[in-house]
Amino acid sequence: MLACAAAAKVADVRRIMANIVVVGMQWGDEGKGKIVDLLCPAFDAVVRYQGGHNAGHTVKFGDRHFALRLIPSGILHPGLRCIMGNGMVVSPEAFFEEIEQLHAAGVETRGRLFISNRAQALLPVHAALDQAREKGLGEGKIGTTARGIGPAYEMKAARFGVRLGELAAEGVDVRLRSQLARISAELVALGAELPPLPARVEDDCRAWARKFEPYLADTEHLLHEALERGESLMFEGAQGALLDVDHGTYPFVTSSNPTAGGACTGTGVPPTAIDGTLGIVKAYTTRVGGGPFPGELTGETGEYLRKRGNEFGTVTGRPRRCGWFDAVAVRYARRLNGAKLLALTKLDVLDELDEIQVCVAYRIDGAVTRDLPSRLDRFARAEPVFETLPGWKRSTVGVLEESELPKEARDYVTFLEREVGAEVGLISTGPRREETLLREHPLLASWTGGRLAKVIAERHAG
Ligand code: GDP
Ligand code: IMO
Ligand code: MG
Repeated sequence: MLACAAAAKVADVRRIMANIVVVGMQWGDEGKGKIVDLLCPAFDAVVRYQGGHNAGHTVKFGDRHFALRLIPSGILHPGLRCIMGNGMVVSPEAFFEEIEQLHAAGVETRGRLFISNRAQALLPVHAALDQAREKGLGEGKIGTTARGIGPAYEMKAARFGVRLGELAAEGVDVRLRSQLARISAELVALGAELPPLPARVEDDCRAWARKFEPYLADTEHLLHEALERGESLMFEGAQGALLDVDHGTYPFVTSSNPTAGGACTGTGVPPTAIDGTLGIVKAYTTRVGGGPFPGELTGETGEYLRKRGNEFGTVTGRPRRCGWFDAVAVRYARRLNGAKLLALTKLDVLDELDEIQVCVAYRIDGAVTRDLPSRLDRFARAEPVFETLPGWKRSTVGVLEESELPKEARDYVTFLEREVGAEVGLISTGPRREETLLREHPLLASWTGGRLAKVIAERHAG
């Protein structure tokens, strides 16, 4: 009876609080960091669930600028708890570098940032192997971020991986040695440089274990306790749905599951605790690295989007490939993620264009389809079927009222909503937190509970 009453109380609280997953709906770099940061005042904790320092999440407000790679974007909100889940692969070197940068910028992390004991360690040899493999692939390379993400996940799945919580645990050296032996053999076969001596790596592991100590926790318990207290969690995806190792454009993908299901496996929070998914979509398409890209703009317009949108990788500085909005890909991502609500970013980047095209279907071997094919050879042959819309040729930068958006811009948003089958609740027209239009939308209101006003107020608090 008591347990029932407690459960009812939790359920009562949960009715006004929500747990949402923020997912990139394209090939990454949609502006997830910006939107997560903006919505933080409505949540009690931000949780990363997959990926590693291949991610680069930019957050700007006032005159401040941060590029987060491993640490959740919520860290910039004093007092907010941030969790790095078991689904992540964490490079100790990259992590401590990021911590130092944050501390130097006056951002406190101790006592509010927790990393899962079950997250995997990404070792320097993983990066060496990633780079050697890419070199070996030549023209057919994936175009990875060269950070070692693939090898780290591969070792986890092969059960040779080392979890952060056991870096200095007894007996782990056997697993570590097996792993290093395998990697060394492959590096030799690829004609690449050998990794550091195993003895040194073990010493490194012990030193890292000491440094990680203040941050490590059984984060599943922290999250379950937070849920039982009726707190609201925001799960921050890295990469994007089309880079998902299962559902993306394989093999030109990353090695984890950015799609919403990853928020469960990558944190230990059950699907029943998740209330919805906010999909982040850029007003056009970008892609870094290799792989087919129907309708890629290689000419003047592509160059315009790259320059105006500052489309250069946050992590690697590589120019991003640009193209028109691909409604086929985003429709697929909407279904994969159950995203009923979208945040549309970088609308301002289209401000100067006379006409805007949207890819609404693919023509593959003469047949028109509105669905993304699973086979890469078919996807590579997909020709975009475009619809053309008029541009608005006026600045939308920083517009906060929908009535102040040019009619053509509003029509563009409506067109995308119809094509994708989801509604746009936020429109971003500049990189900074304050340059975001929030629409009155029941889902946004229910997800943020009584705290939407706080989001709006803090939008301008640099
Ligand atoms: P993420 O990986 O999804 O967090 O995205 P990135 O930070 O890698 O890339 C998005 C880039 O676009 C960053 O440089 C942001 O500062 C910038 N950005 C985000 N939203 C907007 C927007 O609405 N307009 C413009 N012009 N830039 C934006
Ligand atoms: P955020 O979180 C864009 C891409 C790489 C490559 C492929 C595999 O900032 O959106 P990996 O190093 O993961 O093995 O590379 O995935 N990629 C990203 N592209 N944004 C990202 O992260 C990415 N993380 C990986 O360019 O094509
Ligand atoms: Mg990015």
